[in-house]
This record gives sequence, C-alpha cells and structure tokens, in this order.
Amino acid sequence: MKKSILITGGAGFIGSHLIQLFVQKYPQYKIINLDALTYAGNLENLKAVEGASNYVFEKADIQDANALSAIFEKHQITDVIHLAAESHVDRSITDPLAFVKTNVFGTVNLLNTAKEYWKGNLSDHLFYHVSTDEVYGSLDDDSFFLETTAYDPQSPYSASKAASDHFVRAYANTYKMKTVVSNCSNNYGPNHFPEKLIPLCINNIKNSKPLPVYGKGENVRDWLFVKDHARAIDTVFHNGKPGETYNIGGFNEWKNIDIVKLLCAKMDQKLGREAGTSEKLITYVQDRAGHDHRYAIDATKIQKELGWEPSLQFEEGIEITIDWYLNNQEWLDHVTSGAYQDYYSQLYENR
Ligand code: NAD
Ligand code: DAU
Repeated sequence: MKKSILITGGAGFIGSHLIQLFVQKYPQYKIINLDALTYAGNLENLKAVEGASNYVFEKADIQDANALSAIFEKHQITDVIHLAAESHVDRSITDPLAFVKTNVFGTVNLLNTAKEYWKGNLSDHLFYHVSTDEVYGSLDDDSFFLETTAYDPQSPYSASKAASDHFVRAYANTYKMKTVVSNCSNNYGPNHFPEKLIPLCINNIKNSKPLPVYGKGENVRDWLFVKDHARAIDTVFHNGKPGETYNIGGFNEWKNIDIVKLLCAKMDQKLGREAGTSEKLITYVQDRAGHDHRYAIDATKIQKELGWEPSLQFEEGIEITIDWYLNNQEWLDHVTSGAYQDYYSQLYENR
C-alpha cells in the first residue's frame, strides 16, 4: 500500500524541516501537512516544497474531530507523525489552558480519529508522537535522562507533553495501536521562531537590542541542529520498534550565558563590530517561574539500536544558523511584523 503520511504541525519550526526531508527524499510517499497556522505556523517555511506533486497542505485544528476525520478519509492516511503543539514554556506559564487544549485534548482527538479510521487493521499503521526531554523534569546533578527515567514534568508545557505521551502509550496498551514516541532535547537552526533563546538573541544582537538572560544564565540545555532531529525522526519512523521510546539529543550541553556570549562573539565578527560590542547588550532579567535547571539526554539507545547520531558539530550548526538569519531578512521581517500570517490567504484563497 502506498504510504499517505499525515504530519501535524508541519508549518512550525521542526515540522517544516521534517516535511522538506520527507517530500524530497520519498517521492513515493504522499505527505499531508495538517496545521492550524497559529502564531507559530508559517507557510513561508515551506516554499521549497510548495509545488511538489507529493505534498498537500490542509489547514485544520487538531481539536476539531470532524475536520480530522474528513482529512483521514480524503487522503486515506496510512501513518501519522504528530508534531502539532503549543511549544513555548513561557507562554505555558501565562496560558496553561491553551496547552491542555492543543497538546492533551488535540492529541487524544488525533489518536481517536486514527483508531477509528484504522479500525480492524491497527497493526498496519503507525502513530508516531514527537515529544520532548522536558517530560523527565530537571536535573540538579550530572546524570542523564534515559528512556527509563521516570516522568517528572515541572512546567505547564512539560506537564501537557507528558500527558500526551501517556495517552499515546495508553492507546498502544488498551487498543493495541502501533505507536512510537521520541523525546528530544533543544533544537536550533533556521526557521526557529524568534521567541526562543537562540533566534531571539540573534535578532536582538543584529538590532542592538537587550539580550534578556533569565536568572544568572546558569541553566543548562542540550542543543541539537534541527535537521539532525528531522533525520532522527526519519530513522525512528522507518526503523523504530513499535511500542518503544527513543531519546534524541545532541551530546552538546551549554549554559545559557555561554551560548549568548558565543552568539555575541560570532556576530560581532560577522557584522564587523569591535569584539565585545554585543556582550554589552546582555541584560540579566527576572528568572522564569519554576525554571528547570538542566536537561541532558542520553541518546545511546537510538545510536546503538538504530545507528543515528548528530551529523553536525555545534560550532558548525551555529554558523549555519546565524548566516541563515542574516541572509533571510525578509523571513525575519515578516515574522516580526506578523505579515507571514497573510501568506496562507495569498497562496490558497483562490484555489
Ligand atoms: P512550533 O511552535 O515551531 O510549531 C508548532 C506547529 O504546530 C505550528 O505550525 C502551529 O501552527 C501548529 N499547531 C499548534 N497548535 C495546533 C493545533 N491545535 N492544531 C494544528 N496545528 C497546531 O514547534 P516546534 O518547535 O516545531 O515543535 C514541534 C514539536 O516538537 C512539538 O510537539 C514540540 O513539543 C516538540 N519538540 C520541540 C523541541 C524544540 O526544541 N523546539 C524539542 C523537542 C520536542
Ligand atoms: O528541551 C526541549 C524543549 O526546548 C522543547 O520541548 C520546547 O518546545 C522548546 O521551546 C525548548 O524549551 P526551552 O524552554 O528550553 O527553550 P527556550 O529557548 O525558551 O529557552 C532556553 C533556555 O534559555 C531556558 O533555560 C530559558 C532561557 N531563556 C529563554 C528565553 C526565551 C533566557 O534566558 N532568556 C530568554 O529570553
């Protein structure tokens, strides 16, 4: 049977890189991108595949069960890779319910739709849930998150992602759905919405605006280039064992303040500014409420069992990322002005 793969959240940061990878690498698959185009969804991320014959965009909200059923029927969906989510921790602190609605209710809605549509042959179809390392909580020592680490989410965002992971596993156990879950560390790279640390700093350095560092900047994150995450999802989708969980990480831990200083140094060079100019923009601000201290993924399982590992060193990935933002001023202008939200109507209104 020809695969007709529903990728949710495909207009977002990671989803758009995944869609490009799948559309270009697998011309024999039909790729359906389902996205509600919230503030985080940007079809300008997908210009490279817009006209591809194996790519279709469907604007829909995963909270809308009727819309989901219609899309499953219309495209005879064989597999799901689910990325659609509210993804920003700070927003989850001000509006937790939005995270429950999309990440928990939306995910269960999607599971239900898939279960009903695939009824009678559930084992022929895969539901792949893309999740985060934040479900494991915060590390205060030098240990690592394993696939067997107990869940201990600390923010409304991570609590909502943990709940969605549990629902996916509950559907596997109860209804015998074929599922797989992966939990990844912090991604960075082109097309990252400039509310997140790295693109926010790149944009602010460029415009000589303050660089807000939460607390003392001592919190630690493990960073992975977004295209390496997309490659990992490809690997897990094709070779992962049903029912399993795979941790994905960059083996690349950094304190926030060190990342911000690295960005300052690299951008001073690229922008022809005197060394030390951008570091003066660093501004220590009030800490994030309940700020997780450290995340660190042990990605040995996916490395040993499936042969995946990151392809890029961090220094190389950061160079690519900074250069992308400097060379894509129009993308940044559209995102910061909100103009990217008109792109859907320009593209699809008369079709
Ligand atoms: P993002 O915020 O950039 O994109 C999310 C996408 O989902 C957007 O296109 C948005 O329009 C869409 N969306 C939101 N609510 C929706 C709804 N109700 N119905 C349909 N579409 C909706 O997020 P991202 O950073 O690309 O993350 C994608 C997934 O990967 C998320 O599930 C996130 O939890 C997970 N993840 C992200 C990271 C990271 O570092 N960014 C790391 C690990 C896991
Ligand atoms: O670990 C995976 C997670 O990484 C994903 O599941 C989330 O979707 C993704 O947003 C990301 O979460 P973080 O909270 O780690 O990312 P963020 O870029 O928001 O923050 C990174 C670190 O930088 C964190 O310790 C908070 C800090 N920070 C962030 C911002 C936006 C600052 O110091 N200043 C800032 O302005």
